[in-house]
Amino acid sequence: MDLVIANGKVVTDEKVFAADVGVKNGKIAAIGKKLPAGKAEVIDARGKLVLPGGIDMHVHLNLFFCGTYSEDWDTSTAAAAAGGVTTVIDYAIQTKGKTLQEAVESRIADAKDKVAIDYGLHGGITDWNDRTRDELRRYARTGIPSFKMFMIYRSQGWMADDGILFSALEETRSTGALIMLHAESAFVLDLLTERYHTPELMKTHGAWCHTLARPDFTEYEAIQRAATWARVTGGRVYIVHMSTAEGARIVARAKADGVAIWAETCPQYLLLTDRVFKRPDGHLFGTCPQVKKQEDSDGLLLGLKSGAVQVLSTDTCTFDSKQKAMWEGDFTRIPFGMPGLETLLATMHTHLVGKHRFSLQELVALTSTNPARLFGLYPQKGTIAVGSDAELVMFDPARRVTIDHEKLVTRCDWSPFQGMKLTGYPHLTLSRGRVVARDGTFLGERGWGRFLKRKAGGVV
Ligand code: URP
Ligand code: ZN
Ligand code: ZN
Repeated sequence: MDLVIANGKVVTDEKVFAADVGVKNGKIAAIGKKLPAGKAEVIDARGKLVLPGGIDMHVHLNLFFCGTYSEDWDTSTAAAAAGGVTTVIDYAIQTKGKTLQEAVESRIADAKDKVAIDYGLHGGITDWNDRTRDELRRYARTGIPSFKMFMIYRSQGWMADDGILFSALEETRSTGALIMLHAESAFVLDLLTERYHTPELMKTHGAWCHTLARPDFTEYEAIQRAATWARVTGGRVYIVHMSTAEGARIVARAKADGVAIWAETCPQYLLLTDRVFKRPDGHLFGTCPQVKKQEDSDGLLLGLKSGAVQVLSTDTCTFDSKQKAMWEGDFTRIPFGMPGLETLLATMHTHLVGKHRFSLQELVALTSTNPARLFGLYPQKGTIAVGSDAELVMFDPARRVTIDHEKLVTRCDWSPFQGMKLTGYPHLTLSRGRVVARDGTFLGERGWGRFLKRKAGGVV
C-alpha cells in the first residue's frame, strides 16, 4: 500500500465503524483493523471521521450567465477540495440550433487544464429535433446520461417548453437517462417580474422585489406539471435546487404513486430565508430560484429526513461583490448565483447532524452516496469500499470554525454563510489517493481532475 489512514471512524451510508483504510494506486486497497502499513505512509485519523469525498452534482463553473462569468474551474475546484468535495458535475448547455456535442467538447476543453478534482458533465437541452434525440440516446450510453432542462430563462435562450420536456422524458424511459429540471413557471414568473420592475417599487423594495416576484407557487406549479409529464410518459425526472416545502410534498406524493422522480435541495434553502433581501447587501443573495420562507426550509428538511429529497448539492455559481454590483438597484440585473462548494460538507454537518439529529450515515448518503448512485458514479465514487477511488475526507468533528470568506480558498469576496459557527470541519482531503487539501489549504494542482464517464439508469 502507498498510504494508510489509520485509527479513524469510517462512515458509509450504511454504517459507522472503526477501521484503517489502505490506499494503493489511487484506489482503496484494504479496509480493516490494524492494517499492516509496511513502507506505506501512515496518516493518523484518531478522533476524526473518515467520509467518502463529497459529490456536488450541480455546479456552474466559468459559466457566462447574466452578462458575466462565474468563478473559474481552478479556484472553484481548489475551494471544493478544501471543503471536502472531490467530484463535481457541471453542465454542457446546448446553444439553440447547435449540437450537444459542441457544448460538451467546448466544456471539456475549458475544464481540462484547470480542474483540480474529478468532474463530469450533464448535457443541457435547449432545442429538440431528431438530432438532439439521437444525441441523448448516444450520450446516455457513452458517459453523459443526465440532461438539464430549464423551464425558464427565455431571454438567455435556454428555456425548454413543455413539448420539449415531454419529448425528452419519453426518451428517458428506454435509455435510463435522467432529466434534471429547473422547475419554475416561466410565463407567470415573467409577468410578476414585470409587475415589480418599476422604478418606484424597486426604489421602495430593492432586492426584496425578487421575493415579491417569485412566490412559492411559481416553483411548485412547475414541479406538479413535471411530475405529471413524468407519470404519463413513464420518464425519469429529477428536480434541481428545490426551494419550497410544497415542492417536496409534491415529489413525495408522486414518488409514492410510482413516478420515477427525485429531487435535490441546497444549503442556501435550508440555512437562509428571504429576510436576507432586507439587508443592505441583500442583492448579493440573488439566486435562482431565490431563497424562500422559514416554513419552506422546515419542509425541505422534512423532505431530506423522509427520503423525498435524496441529494444535497450547492448550485454553486459564484459571482463576487463587484459582479453583483452590476444590478445598480434593478433586481432583474442581479447576476444569479452564489458560492457554496467549499462550505457544503461543514455547513451540512453542523446543520443536519449537529442541530437536527441526522445520522452521519444520512449525511454521507445525501452528500456522496445518493448522488453517486443516481448519477451513475457508484461504486467508483460515493463510498468507502475496496476497489473504489480513494476519495476520502478526514473530517474533524471537534474543530470549531466561524465562516469567514477571507479565510476561504474561493476567490469570492463574500459568503452567504458569513459568521456561521461550524461544529466540525474537513481536516484532510484525498483525491484518487493524493492529499489535495489540509486544514482549509489547497495542496493539489490544476489539471489533476479527470473527466468521468457515467452510467445511465441510476436509482436511489
Ligand atoms: O442562480 C443560479 N443558481 N444560477 C445558475 C443557473 C441555474 O438556474 O441553476
Ligand atoms: Zn437552475
Ligand atoms: Zn444551477
